[in-house]
Amino acid sequence: MPGTPFEDLLCPALSELSSYTPVAGDYAVRLDANEAPELLSTAAKTRLAQACSGLAWERYPDATARVLRQALARYSGVSPEEILVGDGSDEIITMLLSAFSQPRDRADGALIMTTTPTFVMYRMSAKVRGQRVLEVPLDSAWDLAFESMLRGIELSPPNLIFIATPNNPTGNLVNRERLERLIEAAPRTLVVIDEAYIPYADRDQLDLYRRYENVAVMRTLSKIGFAALRVGWLIARPALTAELDKVRLPYNMNTPSQVLGALAVNELEPEIRRIVQYVVAERERVACALALLPGITVTPSAANFLWLRSERPAQTLFEGLQARGVLVRSFHQRGGRLAHQLRVTIGTRAENDRFLTCLRELT
Ligand SMILES: Cc1ncc(COP(=O)(O)O)c(C=O)c1O
Repeated sequence: MPGTPFEDLLCPALSELSSYTPVAGDYAVRLDANEAPELLSTAAKTRLAQACSGLAWERYPDATARVLRQALARYSGVSPEEILVGDGSDEIITMLLSAFSQPRDRADGALIMTTTPTFVMYRMSAKVRGQRVLEVPLDSAWDLAFESMLRGIELSPPNLIFIATPNNPTGNLVNRERLERLIEAAPRTLVVIDEAYIPYADRDQLDLYRRYENVAVMRTLSKIGFAALRVGWLIARPALTAELDKVRLPYNMNTPSQVLGALAVNELEPEIRRIVQYVVAERERVACALALLPGITVTPSAANFLWLRSERPAQTLFEGLQARGVLVRSFHQRGGRLAHQLRVTIGTRAENDRFLTCLRELT
């Protein structure tokens, strides 16, 4: 415990949470954060820099982020009224949780349902709001355990269900039929489909959003070359975005993020496509190389990272790679089946080769 004199005033959940702190230090190869590799062209970087030269630095940003919302709407094939923008999807998650906070019937707090393992911010952000979180373990193929989720819904319908697909850290798209049945089983729950990695997959779930009133879709620029901008967005019915907009802080999107985020999707779409194609090709190459290593199995990935199972403890491989200057993500501290799993972001060809060489030395 921190020993602050305000302990009795702090949200009780803080005692069991820790700050989100990526591993610090200088690594020759960082494949730990699911960012895109550094592949933006010099021309694109020059264009981004030029666009900053005319900014009104003394003025607050456009509070409605009109131009950015228009750009993201066009890019996503929806209308600007269906777009809510956030400081990364992380902020969208907090806005959803703040808005969907009313306990149902006689429940003693809002209930959030998600899977495990999955992206940690659904749970963390709900906990700091004092909300209850039901995490349903994924099945042995890292897919939705539909029956268990259904039982949870019947017992106590959640306010929100977060489903990342492709899922982080497992990389797979969840089974579509199960997802659709889940949506149908929870008509009074908003099902948030987190499509952070969708540019790397061969199908999206926007049709489910169009068909079902209780679905919203979340996306981000972070995984396709623009993590520095912190631009995430929610696609939801206009009546819902209007309500969620009341929770949004007045100037949540700074001016450079608004201007450069719009520029990225309006002018740099060919760059984004090139980076995505490169990463997908590398992902398949690395997955094939890994399949040849003894004691390593790879889950088929629809994202920009791979989820590996090793017969040796993940901690041993993680530390061995770290000692060789290659940082990946390990979940060994969580124990159980995660003690043998590693998540590796796809980098440039040279970075991936370095990772493979080091891993070969360790297996
Ligand atoms: C599934 C998923 N959703 C959302 C995010 C966060 O995205 P953003 O950078 O837009 O906050 C991540 C980041 O790792 C993620 O894995």
